[in-house]
This record gives sequence, C-alpha cells and structure tokens, in this order.
Amino acid sequence: MSLKTFTLNNGQTIASLGFGTWELDKEEICVPAVTQALQTGYRVIDTAARYMNEAFVGKALTESGLKREDYHLTTKVWVTDFGYEQTLRAFDKSLKKLGLDYVDLYLLHWPVEGFRESWKALEKLQDEGLTKAIGVCNFEIDHLQALAASSNNKPVLNQVETHPLFQQRALLNYMNEQDILLEAWSPLGRGDATLLTNPVLQEIASAHGKDVGQVILRWHLQRGSLAIPRSSKPSRVASNFQIYDFELSDDQMAAINALDTNQRSAGDPKDPEWIAKLMSMPIPD
Ligand SMILES: NC(=O)c1ccc[n+]([C@@H]2O[C@H](COP(=O)([O-])OP(=O)(O)OC[C@H]3O[C@@H](n4cnc5c(N)ncnc54)[C@H](OP(=O)(O)O)[C@@H]3O)[C@@H](O)[C@H]2O)c1
Repeated sequence: MSLKTFTLNNGQTIASLGFGTWELDKEEICVPAVTQALQTGYRVIDTAARYMNEAFVGKALTESGLKREDYHLTTKVWVTDFGYEQTLRAFDKSLKKLGLDYVDLYLLHWPVEGFRESWKALEKLQDEGLTKAIGVCNFEIDHLQALAASSNNKPVLNQVETHPLFQQRALLNYMNEQDILLEAWSPLGRGDATLLTNPVLQEIASAHGKDVGQVILRWHLQRGSLAIPRSSKPSRVASNFQIYDFELSDDQMAAINALDTNQRSAGDPKDPEWIAKLMSMPIPD
C-alpha cells in the first residue's frame, strides 16, 4: 500500500502526512523545525494567523530552496477576523507575513458567527488564485450542512481534533459521504502520556519494530486521514515521517479503533464558553 497522497474533492492532490506548527512561535525553534521537516520530506506545512509564526514558517519555506509548487502551505483566518472585508484584510496580512504570492489552502479556524460571510471571502480569494483551495476547521456535521446550504463550494477538508482516544467516527463517516477529507489536528493527542504509553499501542509498535507515535500516525493514514503532527525535537520530526514502510493489519486497526473514549482533549466547537474565550483573543498587529 502506498497511500502517499490523497485526492481532494476539487481534483488537487495533497501529501498524506503534514507538519503542524502550533506553539512553534519562537523564530529559533520554528525555523529549524520547519526546515528539518522539509528536509525530511514533509511537503504539507500547517500554520495559522493565530500561531503568530507565519513569518518564521515563510522564512523556512523560502530558504528551503524548494520550488513553490513542491510544497503545500496552509494558513487560517482567526475568529476575530470573521466577516467578509475583515477576512480579506486578514488574508492580506497573512500573505505578507508568509512572504508568499499565494497559499495552497486557506481555512476558517473555528465555526463562530460570521463564518458564512468569511467563506464568501475565501471563495473570492480562491477565484483570484490567491489560495488554491479552501476549507474549514472544527466544523461539526451541522456546521458543514449550514455551509452547504449557503454555498456551492464545498470545503476540501475539515481540520479537527482526532486521535485514538477521540476518533470522530460519526463526523468521519459523514465527511466520507460528502467527499471532504478529515485532517487530524493533535493527531498524537498532544503527546499525552496516557495515549503514548497505552499497552495496546505499545504491543502493536513492538510487533512492527516501530514506536507508538509511528503506529498512531499509520492508523490515521490507513483510515484515510491526513495527520499533521508537530514536534520541536529533531529525532521526532524524523521518526514521525517513517510511516510508509509498514502496514497495520485489520486486527491491529480494530484494536486501535476500540481505544476510542470519545473525550476531547481540547476545546469543543459547540461550547459557548470556549467560543467566547476564543473571541476574546484578537491577534495583535
Ligand atoms: N485547527 C485547529 O483548531 C488546530 C488546533 C490544534 C492544532 N492544530 C494543528 O495541528 C498540529 C498538530 O497538533 P498539536 O500540535 O496540537 O498536537 P500533536 O501533534 O498531537 O502533538 C504535539 C506534541 O507531541 C509531542 N510529540 C511529537 N511527536 C511525538 C512522538 N513521536 N512521541 C511523543 N511525543 C511526541 C510534541 O513534543 P516535542 O515538540 O517535544 O516533540 C508536542 O508536545 C498543530 O501543530 C497545528 O498545526 C490545529
């Protein structure tokens, strides 16, 4: 099984593993980590206006020597910039910070009020070629349905918290029916010890001569999801990429599927307190 790329509902292809950059907000940590990721072979890099590292990510991309068409850059509009005009302005700022002419994917960061107006701005940016594709994050089924009712443009993907302890099965099934790719954020459960020392995962890892992180990332791949693990440690940036040389059996996939506790480790898009907290955090200029 190769599974090196996924095909999006707009016909574009995307590498099936990416690199996350949340919390890599210091230049001396972010630039080397993204540089190493690109040298290792990651071609999908995920940032966001909210991560306050677009300039560092852009620096690593520009200095990598890679041709522009050889990497895929995602960024996101933050919730306090929702609304049509505000989103267009926020995109302009992101593009300047990144130092790029276009991005490959522009996402709505959370489903807060105003997302339909922002989506119209994303459609305009796509029409102008400033982003090659558009998508969403943290959308539940009803958010996706609401978007579909107001637009003919489907998101190519929905980036949501997903890992063996929180598997998003109902959402995944719905998105499979709709041909919307699931991109897994916190694919390693943020390095949570409960997950990484889980005996079922440890046993599967030792059967393949792999580590638990690699087994989890392989599980995401085999269920057809794009994981974007983050690490600031060179050894993990490298090891997390070594997931194409082994295959989990059906029994091993089933054993991991059975670990689901349906408990989020981060914010719930339906929780008004969480949304209010996000809305209270504008991005400083
Ligand atoms: N759209 C959204 O709302 C949203 C929300 C959250 C995240 N994201 C995106 O998704 C990306 C990934 O999610 P995340 O950063 O929250 O979590 P993650 O990738 O699941 O976990 C990162 C944490 O795990 C550790 N780690 C990495 N590889 C490991 C391994 N092989 N073994 C043990 N520990 C390991 C890292 O520590 P070291 O640095 O010490 O290796 C780091 O503390 C983010 O960086 C961001 O780009 C999007």
